[in-house]
Amino acid sequence: LKVYLDNAATTQLDEDVIDYMHQLMLNNFGNPSSIHASGREAKVLVEQARNKIASILKVSPAEIFFTSGGTESINTIVSGVLLSSEISKVISSPIEHAAMLKSLEYNCKANDVELFMLDVDEAGQINLIELEEEISKTKGKVLVSLMHTNNEIGTLLPLNDVSDICRKFNALFLSDTVQSMGKLPVDLSDGILDFAIGSAHKFHGPKGVGFMYINGENKILPLLQGGSQERNMRAGTENTISIAAMAKAFEIAIASMQENTEKLIELKNYLIHRIESELPEITFNGHIHGLPNLINIGIPKTDNNEMLLMKFDINGIFVSGGSACSSGALMDSHVIKAIGKNNIIRPIRLAMSKFTTKNDIDSFLEVLKKI
Ligand SMILES: Cc1ncc(COP(=O)(O)O)c(C=O)c1O
Repeated sequence: LKVYLDNAATTQLDEDVIDYMHQLMLNNFGNPSSIHASGREAKVLVEQARNKIASILKVSPAEIFFTSGGTESINTIVSGVLLSSEISKVISSPIEHAAMLKSLEYNCKANDVELFMLDVDEAGQINLIELEEEISKTKGKVLVSLMHTNNEIGTLLPLNDVSDICRKFNALFLSDTVQSMGKLPVDLSDGILDFAIGSAHKFHGPKGVGFMYINGENKILPLLQGGSQERNMRAGTENTISIAAMAKAFEIAIASMQENTEKLIELKNYLIHRIESELPEITFNGHIHGLPNLINIGIPKTDNNEMLLMKFDINGIFVSGGSACSSGALMDSHVIKAIGKNNIIRPIRLAMSKFTTKNDIDSFLEVLKKI
C-alpha cells in the first residue's frame, strides 16, 4: 500500500510533462546564450515559457524571471529589495515558510532594518487593522511580506485587502505564492503585488526550477553575480528544459484547475465528515476551507504518540507533520506554535493532488484508526 498525501512538499510529475521533457532532452541541448542555431532554439524555448507564464498571470513577459525555485526567488527578492530601496521596516508574520523567515532575518540584520512580526489568530490569519497601524506609524518605506496560502495549515491571505493597505501607504508588497500558483487563480494584471513567486515542483513540474514576478516599476539588484542571463537579474546558464517543462505544467494546472478544485473539495468534505463522525477527538488546524487540496488535523498529544509519522510511513501512508523531520518523530512546527496549539496536539498535514482518490482517503483513515 502506498498512499502519497504529501503534495505540499512536492508533487508527482505530470506524464505529459515527462514526455515533453524527454523530447526536449533528446533534441534541444543548446545554451540559450549561444548565437548559433542550436542556441537560438534553446532561447526560443525559454522565451516561449516566459510568454506562457506571463500570459497566465496577465503580466508582461519582462516581469518574469527564471530561478532554481521558491527559495532562490525569495532570497533574490528580499536581498535585492533591501539592497536597492531605502526600506525602514519589514512587516511579516510568524507562519511564513522557513525560506522567507530566514531570508528576512538574515537580510534585515545585514542591512540594519527593523523586522516586525504581526500576530496571527488561531486560523493563522493576520489582523488587517494591526497591519495598517504598523505601516502608518513607520517613517520611511515599508516592505510587507505575507504569504498568499500557508503550506501547513492552508490559511488564505485576503490579497486584495492587503494590497489596498500597501498601496495606500506606498509600501512594497511581496507575497509567497508558491502554494497557490496552479491551485488558485492568481491574476496580477492590476499590479496588486510588487513581487510573487512560483516553484514548478508544487504543480506537477520538475524540481529545482521556479520563477519570480517583479513588477516593472521595481528595479532591484540581483543575488547572483555572473553572466547577463535573465536581463541581468539571474546569472547562470538557464535550466532550459526544466523552464519549458514548468511552463507546460503550469498551463496544464491552470486548464484543469476548476475540475481539480471541485474534486479536491469533494474529497476534503468526505474526509472532514468521516473524521467528525468516527474520530471526534481529532481537531482541525488552521483554515479548513482555505487551500483546496490541504487539510491539517490535530491528534491529541500523548507521551506515546510521538512516532506517529513513522507509523504512518510503515503502513504505506506518506504524510507530514509540517516542518522537516529526520527521525520519524514529529518535530515541532513553527506554524502550529504560532497558532497556539503546540502543547495540545500533534499535527498531521494531508496535502492531496489531482491524483488522490477516495480510496487513498479511506486507506488513510483506516491506518489512522489503527495507530
Ligand atoms: C510556501 C512555500 N514557500 C517556499 C517554498 C520553497 O520552495 P522550493 O522548494 O522551490 O525552494 C515552499 C516549498 O517547500 C513553500 O511551500
